Amino acid sequence: MASGEGSNFEALVNACRADHLPADVVQLVVNRPQCGAVERAERLGIPTALFDHRAVSSREELDRRIVAHLDGEQLDFVVMAGWMRIVTDVLLAAYPQRLINIHPSLLPSFRGAKAIEQALEAGVCISGCTAHLVALEVDSGPILVQAAVPVLESDTAETLAERIHAQEHRILPLAVQRAAQRLGLLPALP
Ligand code: GRF
Repeated sequence: MASGEGSNFEALVNACRADHLPADVVQLVVNRPQCGAVERAERLGIPTALFDHRAVSSREELDRRIVAHLDGEQLDFVVMAGWMRIVTDVLLAAYPQRLINIHPSLLPSFRGAKAIEQALEAGVCISGCTAHLVALEVDSGPILVQAAVPVLESDTAETLAERIHAQEHRILPLAVQRAAQRLGLLPALP
């Protein structure tokens, strides 16, 4: 599921295709018709489904439609790869322990949509990204993988985002692997 550029979505597809992750990305769900993720999915040959949040009356209704749509697919995981909507219990209940989010901070610090700006404002020397299982509270839930990056004095939100994104692309496939190991779908690490 993606709302924006879709670089994490593409990283996940590439990890599967390179056999770094024994999985297939079967579908992209977006909530914006013209987001970059859609273009990437077209280039990668992955079907896309659009659920425009502006066309529904509530967050629950959006999630209900998505769950109904995905019901026919035999999915092990749903990955929020830059899904900029607050999800509800409807989605959580449909994919318990199987809903993964990626967030551009070292959680539990800097939750929410402006995590990179908040990290800069706070003056932290280290930031990073977190892939986690989703709980009801925004940007919370059991942590699967984190990566740290330095924050440089010269950093702007753009330069820090670039450094964090590179790590997100690395840890998101690892997080899916770890989530699969937790459920016994893949062998656990020794
Ligand atoms: C990422 O920074 C992710 O952590 C956040 O949204 C951004 C999505 O980037 N939730 P992209 O669309 O994958 O390029």
